[in-house]
Amino acid sequence: MKVALTYNLKKKDPLKPADYFSECDSEETINSVVSALKTKGHSVDTIDVEYPALFSYFRKNTVDMVFNIAEGKHGRFRESEVPAVLDYLNIPYTGSNTFSLALALNKALTKKILKAENIPTPNFQLFTRGDEVLSAELKFPLIVKPNCEGSAKGINKANVVSNKEDLFQKVKECIDVYRQEALVEEFIEGKELTVGILENGKTRVLPILEIDFSSCKKSGEYFYSWKMKEFQGDSELGLVPEFYCPARLDEKTEAIVKEAALRTHRAVGCLDISRTDIRLDKFNIPYVLEINPLPGLDPKESNFPIMAYAAGMKYEDLIEAILMSASERKGLN
Ligand SMILES: Nc1ncnc2c1ncn2[C@@H]1O[C@H](COP(=O)(O)OP(=O)(O)OP(=O)(O)O)[C@@H](O)[C@H]1O
Ligand SMILES: [Mg+2]
Repeated sequence: MKVALTYNLKKKDPLKPADYFSECDSEETINSVVSALKTKGHSVDTIDVEYPALFSYFRKNTVDMVFNIAEGKHGRFRESEVPAVLDYLNIPYTGSNTFSLALALNKALTKKILKAENIPTPNFQLFTRGDEVLSAELKFPLIVKPNCEGSAKGINKANVVSNKEDLFQKVKECIDVYRQEALVEEFIEGKELTVGILENGKTRVLPILEIDFSSCKKSGEYFYSWKMKEFQGDSELGLVPEFYCPARLDEKTEAIVKEAALRTHRAVGCLDISRTDIRLDKFNIPYVLEINPLPGLDPKESNFPIMAYAAGMKYEDLIEAILMSASERKGLN
């Protein structure tokens, strides 16, 4: 198959904020996807989707499939940008469509759908201006997050607040810095889980990954904050969480968690691949935090490949499964 890989390369620019490129892909990830596709016998061109590369490439070339991992560039629909262009040009691509990518990037809207589907998600309130009255239904501690970011951008330990004064300060900061609404959620104490779904012929829920931060206590970080994600594995910073895959859950709880992820994947309309982040509280309620239709695919660092390896797949099998799943859909969109 002739494949084009679309991506946004992670760059270093001291003039940009520290988390500016957090969602983009490293050279390591891009090279790994390319070599996995080649191992499976495909030819691959790579396209950094910085304008105008995407347009100039497709003016001159045709491909059988685009393998899309591009996060896009601008604003709250950015993950849909590349699929929207490909839709317009009638070129098939892997992964979710424009609509689901835009929806999943909007956490509050996704949560409204989850609530309507009776899928547990933390109680929440969206702050647009920052001076709204706090809903009496919300119980501290609360966490403040930018509504349309990923890679834990703007989510630091100080974003977990236990009083109104700190809450409104963080809400204002979030709106000012990220130029978007602040999502305020009840903070769920409990196990951190993430669930991978891979569709290839049949829908597979991969072994659940549990991330245990108790070994990171000295660092002061205790959940999957931006710092934890960005510097994961740095022993000097004390940011070496423990991974358990499959997660340490009894059979019944495992089934409940997988069901919540699968229902989320379907409710948002994800295709080929997704990763749902869940917090399991002390009553074993699986609170869905969000779904990622473009989960990181770094072969060593990212959560999704860890789950694929636990299912007995090699990295190239994972990449091939995504490609084959999209190929089966060809012509049906
Ligand atoms: N309501 C909550 N209760 C407890 N922990 C939370 C809550 N919301 C977020 N967190 C913590 O913050 C982390 C990042 O939050 P979330 O997954 O919403 O952000 P994200 O930026 O979309 O993440 P990703 O890197 O997966 O794209 C979670 O994995 C979890 O550790
Ligand atoms: Mg997440």
